[in-house]
Amino acid sequence: MLSIVHVSKLEKTFHVRRYHQGRWASLQNLVTRRSRLIRAVDGIDFTIEAGELVGYLGPNGAGKSTTIKMLTGLLVPSSGRLIVNGFVPWKDRRHYVARIGAVFGQRTTLWWDLPVIESFELHRHLYQIPTGRFKRNLAEFNDLLELAPFLDVPVRSLSLGQRMRADICAALLHDPELLFFDEPTIGLDVVAKERIRNFIRHINEERETTVLLTTHDIADVQRLCRRVMIIDRGKLIFDGELARLLERFGGHHRLIVDFAESYAEVAVIGAELLSYSDQRAIYRFDRRKITAPALIQAVSERYAIRDLSIEEPDIETTIRTIYEKRLL
Ligand SMILES: Nc1ncnc2c1ncn2[C@@H]1O[C@H](COP(=O)(O)OP(=O)(O)OP(=O)(O)O)[C@@H](O)[C@H]1O
Ligand SMILES: [Mg+2]
Repeated sequence: MLSIVHVSKLEKTFHVRRYHQGRWASLQNLVTRRSRLIRAVDGIDFTIEAGELVGYLGPNGAGKSTTIKMLTGLLVPSSGRLIVNGFVPWKDRRHYVARIGAVFGQRTTLWWDLPVIESFELHRHLYQIPTGRFKRNLAEFNDLLELAPFLDVPVRSLSLGQRMRADICAALLHDPELLFFDEPTIGLDVVAKERIRNFIRHINEERETTVLLTTHDIADVQRLCRRVMIIDRGKLIFDGELARLLERFGGHHRLIVDFAESYAEVAVIGAELLSYSDQRAIYRFDRRKITAPALIQAVSERYAIRDLSIEEPDIETTIRTIYEKRLL
C-alpha cells in the first residue's frame, strides 16, 4: 500500500526568552540574555496509509498541534523529513493546500465579517472548484451538517457549534484527499459532537478521505479511530490499534456477581474482591492471568449464582493511566 504521509525524525524546537525575577533580574538579562529551548516535537516517525482514520492523542502541551501545523505547512520543521501526498508541505504551500483540508477547533479559517456562504464562495474561487462540484458538495454537506439556517449569518455571530460545522464544510468543499482535524469537537454539546463524529466517519468511509484527528474526547476516539498514536513530551510513545493499547495497558476487567444466597465470604483465587454487599460481589481480574470462563467456573463451583456480568477495562481510565504514570 502507498503511504500518503511519511514522517521521519521530525523535530520542532522553539526558543523561548527566559525571564528573570528578583533584584538582579534586569542586570542578568543584560548580561546573559538566556533563552530556553522547547522541544515541542522531538524526533517522531510514522506513516499513514491512504484511507486511514488515525487518532493523534496526548496530554496538553505534548506536541500534537505543532505536528499538525507542520503537516499542514503552517510551521517549518527544525529538522527531519515530512512528505505528504508527494509534497513537502511548507515548501509548496499554495499547491499543497489545494489537496488537503484542515480544521482547527480553536480558531476559524473563515472570514470573520462575511456571511458563511460568502466565505464558501471565496473558497470556491481560491481553490478554483468547478461550479457543479461546489454545488453538489455544498448540498451534501448541508444535508449532513444542517448549515442552511445560518448560511447568511456572518461568521462572528455564529455559535461555536455552528462555526465548527461551517469550518468543516469549508475545509472539504474542494474534495481534499487528506484531512487534518485539531480538536474538532472541543467545547461542543453532546449532540453537536455526535453529529461531527458521524460526519467525519461518513467522509472517511464514503469518500475514502484520509483523516488525522487530535482530540481530548475519549468518545471521539472510541467512535472513530481504529489506530491511535500517542505523543508525550514531543515523543511518539504508542502507535497501533486501539484494541492493542487496551490489551497492553487496559489493566483489569471486572466480574460482577449476584449470588442466589448470602455467603459469609466470597473470595476466589485469581481475582481480587473489590466489594461485597447485598449478595453482590465485584471482582477485579487480569485477563492475561485468568480467563473469564475460568474465573466464572471457579466462582460457580463454590457459590450459587443468580446473575453475572463482565466489564471491559474502559478506554478513558486506560489513557488517563498512560498520561499520569507515563507507562510507555
Ligand atoms: N510558537 C510557539 N513558541 C513557543 N513554544 C511553543 C509554540 N507553540 C507551541 N509551543 C510549545 O510547544 C509545546 C507543544 O505545544 P502544542 O501546542 O503542540 O501541544 P498540544 O499537544 O497541541 O497541546 P494541547 O492538547 O494543549 O492542545 C508546548 O510546550 C508549547 O508551549
Ligand atoms: Mg493542541
